[in-house]
Amino acid sequence: MKIGIVGGTGHIGQGLACRLSHNHEIILGSREKDKASEAGECIINALNEKGIKSKCTGATNQEAVDEGDIVVLSVNYKYLKATLEPLKGFEDKIVISPINPIGKGDYFYYDPPKEGSAALAVKSLLPKSAKVVSAFNNISANKWKHIDEELNYSVAVCSDDEDAKKQVMNLVNEVSKLKAIDAGPLAMSSVVESITPLIFNIAKYNDMKDVGVKFI
Ligand SMILES: NC(=O)c1ccc[n+]([C@@H]2O[C@H](COP(=O)([O-])OP(=O)(O)OC[C@H]3O[C@@H](n4cnc5c(N)ncnc54)[C@H](OP(=O)(O)O)[C@@H]3O)[C@@H](O)[C@H]2O)c1
Repeated sequence: MKIGIVGGTGHIGQGLACRLSHNHEIILGSREKDKASEAGECIINALNEKGIKSKCTGATNQEAVDEGDIVVLSVNYKYLKATLEPLKGFEDKIVISPINPIGKGDYFYYDPPKEGSAALAVKSLLPKSAKVVSAFNNISANKWKHIDEELNYSVAVCSDDEDAKKQVMNLVNEVSKLKAIDAGPLAMSSVVESITPLIFNIAKYNDMKDVGVKFI
């Protein structure tokens, strides 16, 4: 499968590329293609040193959309609208939102847009035929990047398109010991996104690092 990552030069984009690029072709998107090419080469070299062959090409964000069978929107919520505005070609694509709109004062809090969640805001900004799936919201990018570490977590997946949800769940289940959990329709994405400020606060108040979740 080809997986395009819009904003792929960032933390979670690079982390996902580290874990998925040996099984799939990653098209790492950026506003600056050179930046993405550099990041892609770093990932290939780091994996190569561990004897893992990978495919990760630097690209523009538009190329990541055009070439991806699945497109991940790996940008901060505050840049979502500006990032999507110039991009075209999302029709019929599976689009994954790992986006968590989070505010920070003395503590972290969920700060959803008027649509109810970041994933629902994504849906409102894309063509009707785009199949929006929320996933990868609750695992820290550091965990994705440290490829020697086992990922023994749950990944809650929400979508209104059952086939797209299944495909993303299969993708999740390929990685380490991750277990995809069907968390219902996209309307439930607000609950999944709001777990992230909870785990940030748990990390902060209990002096823990990269807290994750597991549903058993
Ligand atoms: N980091 C995590 O541990 C983690 C875990 C789960 C979910 N998430 C979610 O994943 C999303 C991405 O998080 P991240 O930590 O990977 O973000 P990030 O590293 O801060 O940024 C991702 C990419 O966004 C682009 N960007 C930066 N400033 C921008 C601007 N002003 N306008 C448009 N694009 C801009 C950059 O790509 P270019 O400069 O190359 O264009 C950057 O590499 C967030 O919504 C977050 O809630 C993050």
